[in-house]
Amino acid sequence: MRTKRCENEVWKSNKESDLVTAPAALNAEAPVIEVMGLHKNYDKVKAVNDLTMSVRKGEIYGFLGPNGAGKSTTIKTIMALTHPTSGVIKVHNTPVSTKTVDIHKDIGYLPEKISFYRNLTPVQTLTFLCELKGADPVVVDQLLEDVGLGDVSDRKVGTFSKGMVQLLGVAQAMIGDPSLYILDEPMGGLDARWVRIVRDKIRELNERGATIVFSSHILSEVQMLCDRVGIINKGALVAEDTIDNLSDHLELRPRLEVTITGLDGAVPDGIDAIEGVWNADAEGDKLTVSCDASSRIQVLVALERRGLTIKNFKTLDPTLEDAFVELISDHGGEQ
Ligand SMILES: Nc1ncnc2c1ncn2[C@@H]1O[C@H](COP(=O)(O)OP(=O)(O)O)[C@@H](O)[C@H]1O
Ligand SMILES: [Mg+2]
Repeated sequence: MRTKRCENEVWKSNKESDLVTAPAALNAEAPVIEVMGLHKNYDKVKAVNDLTMSVRKGEIYGFLGPNGAGKSTTIKTIMALTHPTSGVIKVHNTPVSTKTVDIHKDIGYLPEKISFYRNLTPVQTLTFLCELKGADPVVVDQLLEDVGLGDVSDRKVGTFSKGMVQLLGVAQAMIGDPSLYILDEPMGGLDARWVRIVRDKIRELNERGATIVFSSHILSEVQMLCDRVGIINKGALVAEDTIDNLSDHLELRPRLEVTITGLDGAVPDGIDAIEGVWNADAEGDKLTVSCDASSRIQVLVALERRGLTIKNFKTLDPTLEDAFVELISDHGGEQ
């Protein structure tokens, strides 16, 4: 099992724009990737709007956001494939520009849309790319096995499904055994079996020491793999933290909803004083109590004791998915 590493978290709430910084940095090493105040406009479209984020050595960083949030644009500026409108990006502490070719040589990059020569087989494709990257093509067969394409190594890529092309894209990113991977939606368009191959590969590469950034619009993919997550919406970072800390900050508190005859919008006396209750609200005949799961029974008993007639009750356990949807719906994604 991997250990959680990060302890110097920055939390940015989209609602209050507050910034909470946890105790001083324990991780003195410079981040592998630093994005500072990045803006990228395409004419009037603000694809990236004052984005600041950082990726630490050895972590799996999930770059999460709905379609159109600005993930690919950010990644392309990190890869120096497009110029920022303003802002600074550093990779391995070196400012990125189109001239910093050496930095990018050590990055395994999967672009958002990848295509290959249709008339080459995957073996020929990867052999050609090894030559371009100055890597030994002896690894080609193994790379294809690694991504589950061993059986189709002699077929022309032009006959491949979208998912198979994507897997070949993951294989080409691994050429040269890079120490840093930047994968733009590596699991996009893959069926469950192939998602698993890619997920296991990402874990394995990370366990062997690689730093990995991957983008996704699917929370569960990120949740399963990542040490830390940056959530982006409309070009801006709305949160950057560990999944655990995100859950805490988002106050994913269980709720109890009780329908009470004749409640008339008033919270019964003493309910919010019960241990484990954070908050109680009443609207019409509905009482909503945010409380520990273990305090639910006490709340119900207390209501009974007050002679109130409980018509119905239900429990609600919000998930990180709910919170993610709420975070991005505040700004409205381009789904
Ligand atoms: N080359 C481009 N020209 C104009 N607009 C673009 C271009 N690339 C991206 N955009 C716009 O920038 C925004 C961010 O896109 P993108 O970075 O691709 O988001 P994501 O990868 O999160 O889906 C979107 O509104 C998209 O339509
Ligand atoms: Mg994208």
